[in-house]
Amino acid sequence: MKNIAIFASGNGSNFQAIIDRVHAGDLTAHISLLVCDRPGAYCVERANAAGIPIFVFNPKDYPSKADFEQKICEQLTTAGVEWVILAGYMRLVGPTLLKEYEGRILNIHPSLLPEFPGKDAVGQALAAKAKWSGVTIHFVDDGMDTGPIIVQERVRIEANETRESLQRKIQGIEHRLYPEILHMLLTRGEVKHDEKTSTY
Ligand code: GAR
Repeated sequence: MKNIAIFASGNGSNFQAIIDRVHAGDLTAHISLLVCDRPGAYCVERANAAGIPIFVFNPKDYPSKADFEQKICEQLTTAGVEWVILAGYMRLVGPTLLKEYEGRILNIHPSLLPEFPGKDAVGQALAAKAKWSGVTIHFVDDGMDTGPIIVQERVRIEANETRESLQRKIQGIEHRLYPEILHMLLTRGEVKHDEKTSTY
């Protein structure tokens, strides 16, 4: 069974979905560590409730990204982490972490990349009056949401769509899709998935 670390910065609903699927036996993995870059974020409480070890840090306490990523790498090594799973980690991964885990870092993003990368992808899609948005799961490289795409799932943006309703639809997909894809990748090393249009 693969040892994984989840990286999160905020609420951690995707982290919770992963915890729940592990507990249910649908996702074969061991969550060895939560890495969080925002002390006080709710994801830390979720880790505590699930008995998952935590490394929480404040980037401002370090002289540079290389310094805090070095510290993260030490924590990952100590915990025996094999895969890094970004789940709402709102920070670009730098060369220090990338070098250690190249090809073994995944991210989930709330848009159909390459559309609407970076922050507030849901707001960006609405502002652009896009007809479709969705969810992308991809490998992480040194760009902003640019790594090789593993899977995407689309969702229609209705005429009366609000930020809340679109966010709800997208997160509904995320919470199902991320654990499912992780299970395939971590147990079989491959992912089989037909692109689907999710309607609610
Ligand atoms: C998720 O929707 C995730 O796709 C997004 O942040 C949210 C975190 O929610 N990630 C990004 O935008 C990365 N660029 P959560 O903390 O409730 O899982």
